Amino acid sequence: MMAQTNSAPFIEVKNVYKRFGNYLAVENLSMHIERGEIVALLGRTGAGKSTVMSMLMGSIGCDAGEVRVAGVDPSVDFHALRGKVSVAFQTDRLLPWRTAVENVELGLQILNRPKKETREAALQWLERVKLKGAEDKYVHELSGGMRQRVSLARALAVDPELVFLDEVFSQLDHVTSQVLRKDFAQIVRDVGKTCVFVTHRIDDALDIADRVFVLAPPAQVCLEIRIDAAMRKNPEVLAGLHDQIERAIGGDETEDVSPSKEEL
Ligand SMILES: Nc1ncnc2c1ncn2[C@@H]1O[C@H](COP(=O)(O)OP(=O)(O)OP(=O)(O)O)[C@@H](O)[C@H]1O
Ligand SMILES: [Mg+2]
Repeated sequence: MMAQTNSAPFIEVKNVYKRFGNYLAVENLSMHIERGEIVALLGRTGAGKSTVMSMLMGSIGCDAGEVRVAGVDPSVDFHALRGKVSVAFQTDRLLPWRTAVENVELGLQILNRPKKETREAALQWLERVKLKGAEDKYVHELSGGMRQRVSLARALAVDPELVFLDEVFSQLDHVTSQVLRKDFAQIVRDVGKTCVFVTHRIDDALDIADRVFVLAPPAQVCLEIRIDAAMRKNPEVLAGLHDQIERAIGGDETEDVSPSKEEL
């Protein structure tokens, strides 16, 4: 049951706190995200980006405050969001014993969609992410960039209203990452999805986000920026935004290739 009224924001975070033991990871965080937006959560390692994402996905609850996604509390009413939300992570999390197309089918199979429809949708999505011809390859036969494309196709194939991405572009080299995020953003805009993505790279955010929330620990919005297509085409504007963000997070982490804690 979707309890949302039209006037409410699609995602609403209000005065949220989250502690892990004695450690305060999120302090009084508030933000709104509208339907159809591509939003970046940007910050240094430890800023609390993944924690905020986990709260939006409902995999952890908050200690105080309110989180609403499509009108429901995702940590309580996750059944209401079944099939409406999908996720892709930094590591592609593909199943090595399945081919590319079989990996894309996974989410649809979990939702018990008919076999024929599932295969057709998976093939279509692989074509959309530019992997036509690689359908029957196993994971070890794919490059890192191709694996992330499979992972993104899998996330989109269930036709979710909302897509969460946690550092999906950051393990790739800059060129591969740039091509992938542009392709992805184009698809997301074409199909009118809402997307929230976590990144520590300023360029990821400037390249594709309509709005950037810069987070500083304990996860608080220390800067919010809106970007439109005209700004994106203007190198001076982009350079200015880059500087502004860099100052807000206290240094450029664009070149940081250190693995996250999740990887270690
Ligand atoms: N389950 C947990 N138990 C204890 N502390 C945690 C837990 N999850 C996160 N933290 C702490 O909360 C802070 C924020 O972590 P989080 O993973 O959200 O940061 P992040 O911004 O995603 O960092 P990264 O860029 O390295 O992925 C960190 O100091 C982390 O150690
Ligand atoms: Mg993280």
